[in-house]
Amino acid sequence: ELSPNDKAKFVAAKRAADFVEDGMKVGLGTGSTAAWLVRRLGEMVRDDGLQIKGVPTSTRTAELAREVGIEVITLDEAKWLDLTIDGADEFDSDLNLIKGGGGALLQEKIVATASDRMIVIADIGKQVETLGAFPLPVEVVPFGWQVTQRLIEEALISLDVLGREAALRMDGDAPFVTDEGNYILDLHLNRIGDARQLAMVLNQIAGVVENGLFIDICDTVVVGFGDGRVELRD
Ligand code: A5P
Repeated sequence: ELSPNDKAKFVAAKRAADFVEDGMKVGLGTGSTAAWLVRRLGEMVRDDGLQIKGVPTSTRTAELAREVGIEVITLDEAKWLDLTIDGADEFDSDLNLIKGGGGALLQEKIVATASDRMIVIADIGKQVETLGAFPLPVEVVPFGWQVTQRLIEEALISLDVLGREAALRMDGDAPFVTDEGNYILDLHLNRIGDARQLAMVLNQIAGVVENGLFIDICDTVVVGFGDGRVELRD
């Protein structure tokens, strides 16, 4: 028996899998919700003869995809994708997102923006009025990361946000390292008034590789509820 939260993730993933058609090249997201999707697509490949090629957004997802029998190719082999399906940490009514809780935001954003369509799958708990309660992940290069951290915190002073702390994400005693060999700073902002401006300001800082704000990228959110209901937002 699934917990209500897992059930919500599962039904959203299952509904989103219906959008996947024969011959498609599909971006495969990262996280616990996306894992439900990858397993479901594996079932469809095995049981229904679905023919797809998958481009994973992390080494974790690549492993799972291969395990369930999905043909895995690189983004450069695919050149372009028909569809990407991924989870999110928060989404608002404009379908703007915070992503990167799992640390895969850079590959996720590259893959999502190389797709004709991005569908997000999420439990209703991820829906927010204003983004920012979830700490915003920012991927930074390890070189001079503390200077980058200071520049970020200084930049936040002039912006429409409530918090200012940029905390280095840890993995035990060592910094967490992304698939691309970078660090993550989690920005505790509480409320992001102008997400578009914040995203631009962050990406102008030299040590910043990418931030977890996905603005005007997502086309549809498939929302799952604990009782098994599903709603589409687009
Ligand atoms: C991974 O880097 C994130 O962007 C995930 O999409 C996000 O953390 C959602 O994960 P869950 O589906 O496990 O909540």
